[in-house]
Amino acid sequence: MQDLYQRDVAALSKLQNLRFFPLAVTRGQGAYLFDQTGRKMLDFSASWGAASLGHGHPAIVDAVTRAAQDQAGCSILSSASLPAIELAEKLLEITPGHGERRVWLGHSGSDANETIARVVIAATGRPRIMAFSGAYHGGTAGSMAVSGHTTQEGVEKFNGLSLIPYPDPFRPYLEDPSGDSVLNYIEELFRKSFPPHEVAAFFFEPIQADGGLIVPPPGFFKKLANLCKKHGILTVCDEVKVGLGRTGKLHCFLDEDMVPDIVIFGKGLGGGLPISAAIGPAHIMNHQAAFSMQTLHGNPICAAAALAVLETIEKEKLINNAAHVGQIIQNELKALQVDQTIIGDVRGRGLAIGIELIEGEDKKPAAQKTSLIIYRAFELGAVLYYVGMHSNILELTPPLTLTAEQAKNGVNIIAQAIEDVENNLVSTEKLTGFEGW
Ligand SMILES: Cc1ncc(COP(=O)(O)O)c(C=O)c1O
Repeated sequence: MQDLYQRDVAALSKLQNLRFFPLAVTRGQGAYLFDQTGRKMLDFSASWGAASLGHGHPAIVDAVTRAAQDQAGCSILSSASLPAIELAEKLLEITPGHGERRVWLGHSGSDANETIARVVIAATGRPRIMAFSGAYHGGTAGSMAVSGHTTQEGVEKFNGLSLIPYPDPFRPYLEDPSGDSVLNYIEELFRKSFPPHEVAAFFFEPIQADGGLIVPPPGFFKKLANLCKKHGILTVCDEVKVGLGRTGKLHCFLDEDMVPDIVIFGKGLGGGLPISAAIGPAHIMNHQAAFSMQTLHGNPICAAAALAVLETIEKEKLINNAAHVGQIIQNELKALQVDQTIIGDVRGRGLAIGIELIEGEDKKPAAQKTSLIIYRAFELGAVLYYVGMHSNILELTPPLTLTAEQAKNGVNIIAQAIEDVENNLVSTEKLTGFEGW
């Protein structure tokens, strides 16, 4: 059999590639992926957080099988459908919010963010949106238009978009780790550039994931939410990567002592099946019929999978597991940091963890070594990728089912990979053809 990776290159478009090493998967079980030779690899990414229950979880297999065997249609556009209704009811029940709300169902974080970006403008009549530099809200035209990630440089932005520095305690804006300088910057914009009543919504990630797994300073989002509330600006919390149990809380924003007006879910919601959701005030979410729809949005198979994910998170106490196992990983990484000066920072909550790799006193991003380290980790049997505006943060978003033993094995592999790269045992030639981002 021809090498699977070469077959992929020969048959599939590069437009959707974000490749770091020649990973070619044929099977997956729990926290492990397998290649065509049967090699077993620990999945420390869970496909960027999408495989929230790991691979092949029986609850998802059962739910999808049942939904497909007796299918309640396959679209919610022109009929009500039981699984979509049950999912929407469940999301309303578990997500704090104010007043009467409605749920919109989509296929991806991208289409959910795009829909909200469009509807907040249309429903409020306000022409501007604010978001953060480094934000990744999606890969469709409308979601890229409100994002601020370097990988999308050159992409046309929404005309009324203002990008604000994300409060990064490791690389603070104006050397102020409290984040207050960021809030001052926003208030100055309101005074000098445009009045706040022109702003429809402020999009934010409660932990900025693709921008560098940045955990905001305590209290920042509460202050931002108060500022938005004062000016009637809707807060839109993008929980796509870090939501639904990953951070050791059901919602990442629960650590921020604020309640967003609109919450976006994706990735882990479907546990590997494509489904997203946006929850917000009824007057926004009911703005106009046929405003944002795709035929298979909310289809019963994906809705059933999402329901199974939410039930399993509760039943298997996966939120506690994420908090517990995540703490073990962070402790081990912090111990490793003592000897490895390349580790500038270890941060995160639960099973959303970032390891910022630096060179020298001035914290220069160690971008090439970061690529080499994940390449070496892949060779040693662990799958993880990097994020960040400077491509130097290892990101861990493993399945919420990860065990303590698996976690320790994974950290050992990372430790070995770092050591091998620091000892110049990994050739940069290996990176040829793997552009990453
Ligand atoms: C915070 C956040 N929002 C939205 C998205 C887009 O999700 P998707 O790629 O599933 O459309 C991502 C993807 O990385 C993300 O991390």
